[in-house]
Amino acid sequence: MRLLTVMDPLSTVQPDKDTTFAFLRSAESRGHENLTCEVRDVYLTRGEVRARARATYVSDTAPHTRLGAEHDVALADVAAVLVRKDPPFDAAYLYLTLLLEHARGKTLLINDPRALRDANEKLFALQFPEWTPRTIVSALPDVIHAFVAEVGGRAVIKPLDGAGGSGVLALSGDDRNARGIVDLLTGEGRRLAMVQEYLPAVRTGDKRVLLLDGEPLGAILRVPRADDLRSNIHVGGSVEPAELTAREREMVAALAPRLRAEGLVFVGLDVIGERLTEVNVTSPTGIQQLGRFTGTRPEDRVIEWIEQRARS
Ligand SMILES: Nc1ncnc2c1ncn2[C@@H]1O[C@H](COP(=O)(O)OP(=O)(O)O)[C@@H](O)[C@H]1O
Ligand SMILES: [Mg+2]
Repeated sequence: MRLLTVMDPLSTVQPDKDTTFAFLRSAESRGHENLTCEVRDVYLTRGEVRARARATYVSDTAPHTRLGAEHDVALADVAAVLVRKDPPFDAAYLYLTLLLEHARGKTLLINDPRALRDANEKLFALQFPEWTPRTIVSALPDVIHAFVAEVGGRAVIKPLDGAGGSGVLALSGDDRNARGIVDLLTGEGRRLAMVQEYLPAVRTGDKRVLLLDGEPLGAILRVPRADDLRSNIHVGGSVEPAELTAREREMVAALAPRLRAEGLVFVGLDVIGERLTEVNVTSPTGIQQLGRFTGTRPEDRVIEWIEQRARS
């Protein structure tokens, strides 16, 4: 197969951490041809989506990536397109998903561009209210302060377009900074922010559950530094092995039909104290750590799934 991965510049890849690197390595070891490109390399001409891509080879030893020939390809001529661009979800990303609509039905699109557009990682979780913590989304400071009081004076506030823990802050009713924090995150009442009850279980970790077509591949736990609210690996959270609890399996089963229907093939749930806080769809990570803890190569299951789908 020929696979096209739309991603951040190859120079930013961390070979021992990135899930995208693991996908490239798995595909190459299974005899497939990897093409990679950046968002700006995807273009539309005469109704056909194309990409200015490069053949890409990866290695566990330096140099970890090597670029081969340039290929100007129609997306219809590759078996699958993996969209693995990290947030932010900006205008360039939005237009990418709209260009990809023109390749719908002509190749496998992972994840589905319509779902990438619709499933804001934080808001999408709220479509499963029986699994989420008490949450409001509002731009209005007085609505937010009332909510914080309602959940007992301890909450977390986050921007809707953040990732990697960026902009996520603790909100305490008795903190003299609380009003300032809310003004800051809402731009003085002009921008939506998400405010959620504080989940004390976060101290033991934020579980990342990786799903392939609605089925769990496994989970890892991200434990925050003692001096930080946030568990994200990006801000110094440490990674530990984890299993899914019975309740978390129930949660996955409840989400699965919807994820499948939307074409959300590779997804990372964030789960704190068995509550769903995020459904990561743009470029969920954690597969390398999962593989190391379990002595397996879960990335192979993803590539295998693509092989089967591409054939049928
Ligand atoms: N409701 C919450 N209670 C306690 N901690 C939270 C809560 N929501 C988020 N956090 C902490 O903040 C981190 C980042 O939040 P998250 O919603 O996953 O946003 P993102 O990962 O996109 O930045 C989490 O890993 C967790 O450590
Ligand atoms: Mg998260």
